[in-house]
Amino acid sequence: MKIAVTGATGQLGRLVVESLKARTARENIVALVRTPSKAKDLGVEVREFDYTQKALLASSLKGIDTLLLISSNEIGQRAVQHRNVIESAKQTGVTWIVYTSLLHAENSSLSLAGEHVETEKILNESGLPHTILRNGWYTENYTGSIPGAIAGGAFLGSAGDGKISSASRADFAEAAAVVLTSAGHQGKVYELAGDNAYTLTDLAKELSRQTGKDIPYKNVPEAEYANILKSFGVPEGFAYAIASWDVSISKGAIFDDSKTLSKLIGRPTTPLSKTIEEVLRAQK
Ligand SMILES: NC(=O)c1ccc[n+]([C@@H]2O[C@H](COP(=O)([O-])OP(=O)(O)OC[C@H]3O[C@@H](n4cnc5c(N)ncnc54)[C@H](OP(=O)(O)O)[C@@H]3O)[C@@H](O)[C@H]2O)c1
Repeated sequence: MKIAVTGATGQLGRLVVESLKARTARENIVALVRTPSKAKDLGVEVREFDYTQKALLASSLKGIDTLLLISSNEIGQRAVQHRNVIESAKQTGVTWIVYTSLLHAENSSLSLAGEHVETEKILNESGLPHTILRNGWYTENYTGSIPGAIAGGAFLGSAGDGKISSASRADFAEAAAVVLTSAGHQGKVYELAGDNAYTLTDLAKELSRQTGKDIPYKNVPEAEYANILKSFGVPEGFAYAIASWDVSISKGAIFDDSKTLSKLIGRPTTPLSKTIEEVLRAQK
């Protein structure tokens, strides 16, 4: 039984491979990577895999039974890339695809949702047995802003009082590994999110508590937030996208209280306080 993981040199993919190694023999795991030179430390079979090269996809999928398709990070190209992978998987005899989608994809106001909805549709139409892991926000999405918040004395955003049910990448990776190595998941759609929702005000309070500094949350209008991000060197298109995601979050786009993620992994999800603690420790 060969289980292959795409994007295995990415941040989530690496954690999935690690989590799989704890659950099945290394010989059963194949890392599918765009850049093999980045995969030398993975400790499993590595095959080259570029979502844009259909011939390569088909040859690299030979003998694979189960495929975890981790969504590409090339926003705007993803539906086409994912279609290439799904069609190649069907052609080479993959029997089950697990796909990392987005929380509440079909109703989500996040601009990211469209490509995930399209990919889910391609999977449904492929006739291949599949499972959808609708991943919520990574807590780590916020940790990159911590040094700037400490330096600037405020945590900025446009998310208002929106509740954020984030979980750590490691939590989502473990869920993927559990699904890939256990039975009964085909045909299921899992809405995956952290156990305890928080607002950015709560996040700033926790950051203040752990640093002993006063770092309040400052909510700013969408356009102003995009401009601030641009002034920090974030490319214009991405800055506007991030600000728009915050506005969606203010309306509840990444809130979920089903606790499906913790039920799948059999433990509580990683609390916000722990992720902040880890970031601050790494900065020392
Ligand atoms: N839930 C969330 O909060 C959240 C946040 C950010 C992203 N995401 C989504 O979740 C995915 C995984 O997250 P992550 O943090 O692991 O992202 P990441 O670290 O950026 O990893 C993305 C992976 O996709 C691979 N990739 C990109 N284009 C490819 C192509 N044309 N062919 C083959 N592989 C390609 C990259 O390969 P290289 O290593 O060669 O670059 C990388 O390994 C992202 O790609 C994105 O779709 C979710």
